[in-house]
Amino acid sequence: MSASGAIDAAWAISRSEGNDTSEVSPNCHTHAKAKTCPCVVALEHLRKAGMGLIRTLRSVATFSVPTLSRQKRRFERAANIADLRLIAKRRLPHGIFDYIDGAAEDEITMRRNSAAFQQYEFVPRVLRNVADIDTRTLFLGRTLKTPLLFSPTGFTRIAHSQGELSVARVAARHGLPYCLSTLSTRSIEEVAAVSNGPKWFQVYVWRDRVLLKDMLARAQASGYEAIMITVDTAVLGRRERDVRRGFTLPPKLGLGTIVDGITHPAWTWDFIRNEPITFSNITDPNASSAGTAVNLSNFISEQFEPALSWDDLEWFRANWNGPIILKGVQSVADAVLAQKYGIDAVALSNHGGRQLDSAPAPLDLLAPVALATGGTLPLICDGGIRRGSDIVKAIALGASACTLGRSYLYGLGAAGEPGIDRVLTMLTDDMTRTMALCGVRTISEITPELLSLVPTGRI
Ligand code: FNR
Repeated sequence: MSASGAIDAAWAISRSEGNDTSEVSPNCHTHAKAKTCPCVVALEHLRKAGMGLIRTLRSVATFSVPTLSRQKRRFERAANIADLRLIAKRRLPHGIFDYIDGAAEDEITMRRNSAAFQQYEFVPRVLRNVADIDTRTLFLGRTLKTPLLFSPTGFTRIAHSQGELSVARVAARHGLPYCLSTLSTRSIEEVAAVSNGPKWFQVYVWRDRVLLKDMLARAQASGYEAIMITVDTAVLGRRERDVRRGFTLPPKLGLGTIVDGITHPAWTWDFIRNEPITFSNITDPNASSAGTAVNLSNFISEQFEPALSWDDLEWFRANWNGPIILKGVQSVADAVLAQKYGIDAVALSNHGGRQLDSAPAPLDLLAPVALATGGTLPLICDGGIRRGSDIVKAIALGASACTLGRSYLYGLGAAGEPGIDRVLTMLTDDMTRTMALCGVRTISEITPELLSLVPTGRI
């Protein structure tokens, strides 16, 4: 706007507010410097109106410095785990993403693990004073900030060079247990060195019991509190995405992987700058071709004990001084047997759908298992947790805690350690909000009455 245009506008405002402008022309030069001049009064009005507008804008808008990296911008804007999954999908080479994201055969089990949560809706209660929400819970003698644990995932460094160290650090910061996989890419001792939080060790039962005994002794000496024996891996499930890609651990270099690497430079740069990925816990050179690429299916059928049975649990009692958890229980009958054998807790789990396809969803097993075991066997719901509301539903159906598998790997793959932190913040915020909206203040107030089945045909 020109100067005379601005004065005209100011005049109009001044007149509209009842000021006498009759003696002075809008283009007045004579009165321009006099305080009483209506031109000056009108301009003052204009200035005040402008300031008012800026104040109003300031109160409704905050301005932030724009982030230049597109990847970072996407991460900052991620609203949920599904968003982090998409960022991980962009950042990771296709073969790596599919190794994490994929499951066995038609992936029916994996899809149902998550879909099972949609069968339920809440029966929220109101006017219950939810000013203070307390998500703490007691699990195996430890107070956890939230009823959440980090499930073991083999080859975690494939998503990001910091791998297991990042997961252990985040778990410790949030006061939650981290269960390190037998097939980890950082050793029992390396993880213990970065985490003073609760740590568990996941056991795949090797044919070579000397190697197994040695790992248990190392875990005990490094302060791991519990072991989780995975019992759903007598043989490896057929993960067809990996079959199609000829996936090996670590990834073998071929034309396909080179092209995949070039088109995902952030991951590739991180991968080549760091030391090679190996099965860090396996010190026996005969037990693993540490460092060379292996086909996971062949490796497991050569090394794992397919003849494992209930009687072997005694061997673990003799070689482990602490709680023993069975991971991979998929029936009421086996949960009852586990209780009979004196197992301390059971993880209802189908390995995230990576083993047997068409296996029951852990969420569906909770209520019948809780009933059959009299509510005295601590139950972990492992599989499909992507929302804080999922955790609330699992607890209502009888879980003592829930575990995260892919959710934290998506965070790690999307942005490294801050990505895992973000996952935890999202889930705990979600959970607290869900509890408040349902009218429950503590974990013990989350009971079956909080849920009802969604009427048929409405899911
Ligand atoms: C796993 N899981 C797994 N379980 C186990 O006992 N030992 C292991 O080494 C691994 N490795 C592993 C790698 C990857 C890439 C994934 C995705 C999963 C299974 C894991 O502990 C957990 O049971 C599932 O991930 C739970 O399902 P959600 O949370 O991924 O849906």
